Amino acid sequence: MNEIHSAGYRAHTNIALIKYWGKRNKELFLPVTSSLSLTLDAFYTDTHVEFDTSLTGDVFYLGGELQNEANTAKVSRFLDLFRETAGKPNLYAKVTSVNHVPTAAGLASSASAFAALAGACNLALDLQLDAQTLSTYARQGSGSASRSLLGGFVEWHKGEGDESASSYAEAFDDADWDLAMVFVIINRNAKKIDSRLGMEHTNQTSPFYALWPKEVEKDLAMIKPAIKAHDLDTVGQIAEHNAMKMHAMTIAAKPSFTYWEPASIEAMTIVRELREQGIPAYITMDAGPNVKVLCRASQAETIKAAFAPRFGADQVVIAKPGPAAHPLEKE
Ligand code: DP6
Repeated sequence: MNEIHSAGYRAHTNIALIKYWGKRNKELFLPVTSSLSLTLDAFYTDTHVEFDTSLTGDVFYLGGELQNEANTAKVSRFLDLFRETAGKPNLYAKVTSVNHVPTAAGLASSASAFAALAGACNLALDLQLDAQTLSTYARQGSGSASRSLLGGFVEWHKGEGDESASSYAEAFDDADWDLAMVFVIINRNAKKIDSRLGMEHTNQTSPFYALWPKEVEKDLAMIKPAIKAHDLDTVGQIAEHNAMKMHAMTIAAKPSFTYWEPASIEAMTIVRELREQGIPAYITMDAGPNVKVLCRASQAETIKAAFAPRFGADQVVIAKPGPAAHPLEKE
């Protein structure tokens, strides 16, 4: 008789206000700096995992499609962490994952994906790891995934030396105030430099990287009290400046590169115009051309409308603060 251990989990994506951009230990995904993010409700991943004693290898379906060897191998390496902890190194699994992102978004996120998979494995194997410990596992799938296990504002502590357990994510504050993030989705045809490659290249070749750890430390120290005080202007200014410093480092890398596209700059110009009209709106950008705008939830529709002359309605999505990752009801 084969034995099956299964569970389903949902994790939401997160966007960093103070960015993670560089690893001090690539194998363990230990970051150069701490970082701080906001979990969002609009984009999430649902993942079911079924550990089955009758399987002779892992199987991975994403969005209903059986995945190739390379993608399955990434999932297998991640499952190994949980198999080892459970003391069942040969217990293979079928993983079924669905990303819920608006069509045309190109926003499929490794953060929500690995957080959902970590949650599902923990539950299926009855490991009973708490969110903090589980975040150290999620981190080893993708650094930013550590933060997607928690809701609201989340801090990922850089930790000490090569000590994996010391680098975990922790809820910093709820985001239960008048807050939203408007996503301006810019379709891209340009070749993608993924975040893993981009941060390594920046770390190794950008002369400005030497300044980054100190800047992040200062930004973190300033943004935390502003979050607690619900001071959107201060939070927004610090977050925008932090993102600009990250992107400036990529331009100064050798060879230089940027995630910005002409349409990204157009979107940023609209944000600055909104500010000139007295509407608080602040830019952040990650390893892609999309522009995200931190703003008041009560003004999100006004901000969305400001993008309408230039961007299609399906290119502008309003997200609100999102919850911690959680189990999916059994069907
Ligand atoms: C710009 O977490 O995707 O979004 O750890 O190599 O998988 P890996 O990188 P990833 O990097 C995220 C970079 C960022 C900033 C952030 O989320 O903090």
